[in-house]
Amino acid sequence: MGCVSSREKGGGMRESQNPRLPEANKNTRDPTQNSSLLPGQLLQNGDAETTESKVVIALFPYEADKRNELSFKKGEKLVILDENGEWWKAKSLSSGNVGLIPSNYIKIEESMDNKDWFFKNISRITAERNLLAPANKPGAFLIRQSETTTGSYSMSVRDVGPNGSAVVKHYKIRLLEDGGFYISPRINFKTIDDLIAYYQKQASGLCQRLGKTCERPKKAVQWDEDAWEIAKESLYMIKKLGAGQFGEVWLAMYNKTTKVAVKTLKPGSMSVEAFLQEANLMKTLRHDRLVRLYAVVTKTEPLYIITEFMSNGSLLDFLKSTPGRKIQLPKLIDFGAQIAEGMAYIEKKNYIHRDLRAANVLVSESLLCKIADFGLARVIEDNEYSAREGAKFPIKWTAPEAINYGSFTIKSDMWSFGILLYEIVTYGKIPYTGLSNGEVMARVQRGYRMQSPDTCPSELYEIMISCWKAKPEERPTFDYMQSLLEDYYTATEGQYQSQP
Ligand SMILES: Nc1ncnc2c1ncn2[C@@H]1O[C@H](COP(=O)(O)OP(=O)(O)OP(=O)(O)O)[C@@H](O)[C@H]1O
Ligand SMILES: [Mg+2]
Repeated sequence: MGCVSSREKGGGMRESQNPRLPEANKNTRDPTQNSSLLPGQLLQNGDAETTESKVVIALFPYEADKRNELSFKKGEKLVILDENGEWWKAKSLSSGNVGLIPSNYIKIEESMDNKDWFFKNISRITAERNLLAPANKPGAFLIRQSETTTGSYSMSVRDVGPNGSAVVKHYKIRLLEDGGFYISPRINFKTIDDLIAYYQKQASGLCQRLGKTCERPKKAVQWDEDAWEIAKESLYMIKKLGAGQFGEVWLAMYNKTTKVAVKTLKPGSMSVEAFLQEANLMKTLRHDRLVRLYAVVTKTEPLYIITEFMSNGSLLDFLKSTPGRKIQLPKLIDFGAQIAEGMAYIEKKNYIHRDLRAANVLVSESLLCKIADFGLARVIEDNEYSAREGAKFPIKWTAPEAINYGSFTIKSDMWSFGILLYEIVTYGKIPYTGLSNGEVMARVQRGYRMQSPDTCPSELYEIMISCWKAKPEERPTFDYMQSLLEDYYTATEGQYQSQP
């Protein structure tokens, strides 16, 4: 490959330079010959399988002059049903009409689905998250369907930002009427493969010369749906990952094949019945931004909760351990956006987390956040916890109405989310540093709120403050919070790079 197939725009075939029709055949041969289709007959929609058949794109317009022929516009997409001779039987993807077409008026459209660089219908933000995974280097790229212009494509490229941090740039891949592609109008390509090969040789105005295709995020473990209550013996404990107030968390192998995290609950911290009831609900919550609950062990104490293993531990530990606070603000805000996304799902499912904190957000190998321990707080029976003013209760994260009246709602989760944003932007500082739980309760009640941390932009502090509105109904929804944080930068900067 290379840039051999590229050519200057306008230098290629023009509409006026119509190709010669297969004239000889046109007037002498009955094009319905070898065809099961009667002249003028139309196939019903759905007769042709579009996914596996050959899709072609019209290079020139064609006006049917026989009833069994099919008219089409330039650029129209057609599925080939029968390739006999020079007149092919085709179905228009736009009208659904079927008829014969001159085969030299079309070109075959390559299917991109099997290309390793094609990440089909992922969003801009997902493209950025994939490219920012540590496995990728500057120049790593992917191509996706454009979110804003249907039928066209965008290329996302990992670049190095002004302060050495990783950033992602987006380019629109524009389509030519003859089916070609370009990023810069100065140079066109017949196929996207050609375009990639060209920009892999030289940056030619892009932020980076293209390197390797983006690493694909690991697929989640396939868990056998029937393996819900599992035998303790099927778990082989490997190493202790951490400990919380109600038990320990271990890395374990399930059935010698699957890495999992096992949370062991201190005997007496919850009743088996209450736990099972909640766990049955929790297991139905499935989302990329939620730690997946796989199975339980409840037949013998201690109870085990088996979940997805997250190799980078809790977000709190991750932030605290970052050397020299290398994580830049855009990445911190994206952590917030990811958590808001997971919480927006919980909100949509009418569920409540009840214990949202940086310690209950876990970080994956590719540095993506997932929310853990949702709903678990509801079933804890420890007095020091349930009494709310007890020592184990996370007072500093909890909304006043939840502390005072036990009114836990998605809006009290939003209060906690504000505190979690504070933890993120301070790289894991304890909120209300220097104040005791009692002092915090009293002051917050009187309207006191945490000051803006030194490094926090005022726009982000405004968002935090909106989470801490005294009236729960005045706090934002997670759905809104997600869009606010996802668009934190793109609202001001253009979403796409201008043409190089
Ligand atoms: N699925 C997991 N994968 C990897 N590590 C985990 C996983 N779940 C928990 N951990 C590790 O175990 C630690 C303890 O988790 P646990 O939920 O028991 O307590 P906590 O949330 O940190 O505190 P608390 O007891 O106040 O709820 C976490 O901080 C994290 O480092
Ligand atoms: Mg936890």
